[in-house]
Amino acid sequence: MSDLTGDLAIETAGLVKIFGDRRAVDGVDLAVPAGTVYGMLGPNGAGKTTVVRMLATLLRPDGGQARVFGHDLVREPDAVRRRISLTGQYASLDEDLTGAENLQLIGRLLGHRKAAARERADELLAAFDLAEAAGRPVKNYSGGMRRRLDIAASVLSTPDLLFLDEPTTGLDPRSRNYVWNIVRALVAQGTTVLLTTQYLDEADRLASRIAVLDHGKVIAEGTKGELKSSVGVGVVRLWLRAPDQRSTAERVLVDALGAAVQIDPDPFELTARLSPQGGEQDVGELSSQALTALARAGITVDSFSLGQPSLDEVFLALTNRSATSEEEAAV
Ligand SMILES: Nc1ncnc2c1ncn2[C@@H]1O[C@H](COP(=O)(O)OP(=O)(O)OP(=O)(O)O)[C@@H](O)[C@H]1O
Ligand SMILES: [Mg+2]
Repeated sequence: MSDLTGDLAIETAGLVKIFGDRRAVDGVDLAVPAGTVYGMLGPNGAGKTTVVRMLATLLRPDGGQARVFGHDLVREPDAVRRRISLTGQYASLDEDLTGAENLQLIGRLLGHRKAAARERADELLAAFDLAEAAGRPVKNYSGGMRRRLDIAASVLSTPDLLFLDEPTTGLDPRSRNYVWNIVRALVAQGTTVLLTTQYLDEADRLASRIAVLDHGKVIAEGTKGELKSSVGVGVVRLWLRAPDQRSTAERVLVDALGAAVQIDPDPFELTARLSPQGGEQDVGELSSQALTALARAGITVDSFSLGQPSLDEVFLALTNRSATSEEEAAV
């Protein structure tokens, strides 16, 4: 993996970051195609922010290689910096200036002429639903407004690569929508976005490929479809007539199909993740087997639905699996 080709937006091989005796990032390989949204998912402490900070040249890697648009992270940090922008805690807003003044100031610092800086600021304030608040000092903004202004600041000049580290954490649904629209607009203009998020639906909506990180390692990578099919072909959700039959139903599904069964909060409901046990079984066959097995055991199913696993289910399956294999390795 030492020969990085450099025709990708981001390419890393064996990237490592060590804090004390903790390998926060433990050999990460990434290949992020230019012009796409690439999602990075993982539980708290998985190493997502550390990867982002290294790629943004804010933190020096302890091992491995990385290139951003072909520029080596360690040898050509200035060339990397010219192509990137980063949101969130790193954007520096002046609390005493208004939202509009902040954006205009940053625009001027980026080299825009006064009129152009004002025009771009107004455009972004409108796009992020901040036009009304544009004349108020930032210190009077709510958390969500500040977050939106942060993101607006990071896209003042259209960067080639934008790092969005949990851009919508704490935002209400409307604000999340503004951010999503801006991300889509940027990508339509050719920007590559590396998006970390705790919200799986956000990755599902925006990202074309996703890497799942856990304990500093990439434990799965691919398109959403690939990730979903990697944890089982489908999910059957069942609603039972009688809640007291649920534990029997669970046993039947596990025994008959080797399904991974999840007990839902609703006492009538049961979710089974189906995987083909060898052969070419499809989800239809598997679910009809499940229903037959339940009927034989005398369990009445009132209704059922069939579908691909959600990204949430994929995420839980993958991160549980990596926790389990670690426990096994520790034995
Ligand atoms: N500057 C630092 N010094 C020491 N340890 C650190 C530092 N930054 C991060 N870590 C540790 O490295 C690990 C990875 O942290 P990181 O912030 O990259 O995780 P994350 O995936 O972004 O998590 P979250 O979802 O909570 O944002 C954690 O165990 C964290 O405590
Ligand atoms: Mg983080």
